[in-house]
Amino acid sequence: MSVAGLGDAGGAEPLVRLRGVGKQFAVAGGSFTALQGVDLALAAGEFVAVVGKSGSGKSTLMNLVAGLDRPTAGEIQVGQTRIDDLGESRLAAWRGRNVGVVFQFFQLLPTLTVVENVALPMDFCRTWPRQQAHGRALALLDQVGVADQANKLPAALSGGQQQRVAIARALANDPPLVVADEPTGNLDSHTTDMVLQLLAGLARIGKTVLMVTHERDIAAIAHRVVSLADGRVVGDARAAPAEATSRAQAVGSPGGGGSGAR
Ligand SMILES: Nc1ncnc2c1ncn2[C@@H]1O[C@H](COP(=O)(O)OP(=O)(O)OP(=O)(O)O)[C@@H](O)[C@H]1O
Ligand SMILES: [Mg+2]
Repeated sequence: MSVAGLGDAGGAEPLVRLRGVGKQFAVAGGSFTALQGVDLALAAGEFVAVVGKSGSGKSTLMNLVAGLDRPTAGEIQVGQTRIDDLGESRLAAWRGRNVGVVFQFFQLLPTLTVVENVALPMDFCRTWPRQQAHGRALALLDQVGVADQANKLPAALSGGQQQRVAIARALANDPPLVVADEPTGNLDSHTTDMVLQLLAGLARIGKTVLMVTHERDIAAIAHRVVSLADGRVVGDARAAPAEATSRAQAVGSPGGGGSGAR
């Protein structure tokens, strides 16, 4: 691992760029600064881990990049879109097509089958017609290795299987950006490895993957590790290109994410 210039995307045109990003939350008697002065650029195909102590601002950063929340200072650009000044409904529409989100507790809808969960974002964003969405959802489930679970309800699956379904769902609209907040926080070590390899495989097919994690040896698989403390970026280390490439080739790719309307 070499130390990169803070905020540097490594030469390539960044997919995600944060400039002077801050977030204050209103709290009783004033405001609390959860993030401040964050400058960060993430390239397409980068697998970036975000680490730091509890309360350092990791989830806050993740939510801002995913367009789940808005900064109170600075600019966030993803592709050609400035997401910090989009209105609520345009932000929601942007998010549906451009970001896949994976959570620690999977957050699958309990009353829909697995395949229905994966097809839902396509239906919601009208990216694929309903007749095609089902087939695409099955293909995505196959890519993450759980096609045989397609017609079950989520509660009938193990945690690792549910997280794979959640990754398939994150890929439904073929977004360029995938964010994951402690996606292995609820999994055993074997399943953790599988999920990390799936995420690394997504970066290999060109997606930008931003993952909050507490995994200790994450530097062995992520291309880059961004460290936060007290709402600031205090470290940004990346693997040498050759190292990152050989690692990426060593992990299995879940296959192409498909392509379609954006
Ligand atoms: N909605 C909110 N209102 C007030 N304060 C908040 C809010 N969300 C987060 N915070 C505060 O901002 C700080 C950063 O929170 P954040 O959830 O980003 O931490 P984290 O690094 O993800 O921690 P953890 O590892 O425990 O998940 C914390 O002190 C938290 O209490
Ligand atoms: Mg968190």
